[in-house]
Amino acid sequence: AQKPILIQGPMPIEAEKFAERLDKVKVEKSGNFVFYKGKLDKYPVIVAKTGKGMENTAAATAIAIEKYDPAAIINQGTSGGHDPSLNVYDIVLGERTVNIGSLKTGHLEEGEGIEPTNWIPMDLMASEGSAGEDPDAEKIRYYEGNEDLLAAAKAVKDKHKKGKVVEGTIGSADLWNNEVDRIKWFHENYGTSVEEMEGAAAAQIAGAYDVPFLGIRILSNNKTNGGQYDPNTAAANQDYVYEVVKQYISEI
Ligand code: 5AD
Repeated sequence: AQKPILIQGPMPIEAEKFAERLDKVKVEKSGNFVFYKGKLDKYPVIVAKTGKGMENTAAATAIAIEKYDPAAIINQGTSGGHDPSLNVYDIVLGERTVNIGSLKTGHLEEGEGIEPTNWIPMDLMASEGSAGEDPDAEKIRYYEGNEDLLAAAKAVKDKHKKGKVVEGTIGSADLWNNEVDRIKWFHENYGTSVEEMEGAAAAQIAGAYDVPFLGIRILSNNKTNGGQYDPNTAAANQDYVYEVVKQYISEI
């Protein structure tokens, strides 16, 4: 049997539009997670409504891999811009995805305050030793987007008419940054194009099982250039990801 392609979306507005476009849909649930199993061009595709955030996404990814053995995973949805050259409705293909909530603070004594700009990245996957003490863990871990998925996404860039499609770095954490200097700090230190709350969790678990992975994120807001939040971007991203999946299927 053909292995399904798994498309993840956190919120209803980020998953249901895609699920509606599948043929012969059967809905299955595991915990809070909803899986819409259907067909696209006769090929099995499963849309997962994961819920928001890193924990929901990690669990939904592991469950989907164990239950459905997907050939590939695309984590998609909305995001906030870190790059001032990107506008609401532009789409970032995650050449890299990174957990921007995994940090170690500096050493400060009582009364010396809190200095977030001195925090350093912490890689929890670097070793089996203590991440707090291990100097090898003081680095950024990037999860690479799968080349074949990236190639399919690049091949259909011009199908997205409402903005541009660029390659970049997706940063994830259970955090919504509204401090422009902090956004700049991530943009400069991690190279982030956008932030959201799921991609790196899915990438980490996909990597643990060796399943090809790509994050695809549309900007729904960009604090660095005044881009106002627009929820309709969620549907536009699903329209584009639908084209990516069609292209990917045509190549396998
Ligand atoms: N910061 C963090 N998450 C964002 N999202 C959209 N914009 C942002 C932003 N600026 C996405 C997250 C989460 C939901 C709040 O929307 O991925 O699912």
